[in-house]
Amino acid sequence: MRLLVTGGAGFIGSNFVHYVLSHTEHTVTVLDKLSYAGNLASLDGLDPARFRFVLGDIQDASLIATLTPDHDAIVHYAAESHNDNSLSDPRPFLESNIIGTYTLLEAARASGIRFHHISTDEVYGDLDLDDPARFTENTPYNPSSPYSSTKASSDLLVRAWTRSFGVRATISNCSNNYGPYQHVEKFIPRQITNVLRGERPRLYGTGENVRDWIHADDHSSAVLTILERGVVGETYLIGADGEKNNRSVIELILTQLGHPADAYDLVADRPGHDLRYAIDSAKLRTSLGWVPRFADFETGLADTIAWYRNNEAWWAPHKDAAEARYRTQGQ
Ligand code: NAD
Ligand code: TYD
Repeated sequence: MRLLVTGGAGFIGSNFVHYVLSHTEHTVTVLDKLSYAGNLASLDGLDPARFRFVLGDIQDASLIATLTPDHDAIVHYAAESHNDNSLSDPRPFLESNIIGTYTLLEAARASGIRFHHISTDEVYGDLDLDDPARFTENTPYNPSSPYSSTKASSDLLVRAWTRSFGVRATISNCSNNYGPYQHVEKFIPRQITNVLRGERPRLYGTGENVRDWIHADDHSSAVLTILERGVVGETYLIGADGEKNNRSVIELILTQLGHPADAYDLVADRPGHDLRYAIDSAKLRTSLGWVPRFADFETGLADTIAWYRNNEAWWAPHKDAAEARYRTQGQ
């Protein structure tokens, strides 16, 4: 396949590009506007015979029309992705996540190209800590933040364009990712790089909030599986049974880096902070035979810590700006 990957200079998109080029014969074009979250260095060293980069915005319909004829599928990662930013300035989230997805869907409709939409479990809202239920493909939408509400909007647009216009689309909703190339504003890289710089990790509220962690490589293998064998019109939830509360993740990072487990600070909580996410990925596992490779979070975390330790040149230029933004929020 010839894949057009939007947002391929971001965290999960760049991991997907590396994964596709090393595990398949497919070719990849990345379309990315290189926002503060996009980084060309995440795509260094790729084979130019199978990879090309196009600088541009997914809201630019005429640019996209020039790209669709040379591709078999759009794999749509591009989005504004950080909840904290969506609370201080929601507009870019409406533009990229809603209008951007609409623009790509119109291009898929006009060209007949296959479309895979990358989304999040946050569209379902949150669960109580002791709720035995996990999210499934049938859980009602109930997003909490400007970020998750714009992702929910984009999912609904994909469903409508499939039903009304016959766009050949699939959707996946994945849990929280970790791994290399994640921006230092996000929870796990922020804490790892704080400790590497001799600063203390910063835990929101009391740290009881639970996230269901999956390694970005496992997210990539799941998306590839859906792209190659998924049923058009279907939604698949992606998760690797990785529930952990934030406090325990910070303690693991500190311990793995040789510091006392309690050497962190409690800071102001996020307004509207979702309590718990948890994914039941039985449909993907049973109907398409997908299995995650990183069954053990502690091993995946150790690999990720090693990556940040060895790649300071990748993250250091962005660290001060991210921390300056957090300081204005008391976090
Ligand atoms: P990211 O912020 O690291 O990367 C986003 C990329 O999209 C950047 O390279 C940015 O330049 C690009 N982009 C943003 N707006 C654009 C626009 N208008 N036109 C072109 N490019 C644009 O995000 P991420 O964490 O890699 O997330 C990627 C996707 O995965 C998002 O759709 C997100 O909702 C989804 N997702 C993320 C997670 C997670 O844990 N991070 C979990 C589930 C789903
Ligand atoms: P984040 O990486 O922003 O992902 P999401 O909001 O999509 O879940 O945050 C993950 C969790 O970590 C979330 O519960 C908020 C929390 N958190 C902290 O405790 N400290 C931090 O410095 C950050 C950035 C997040």
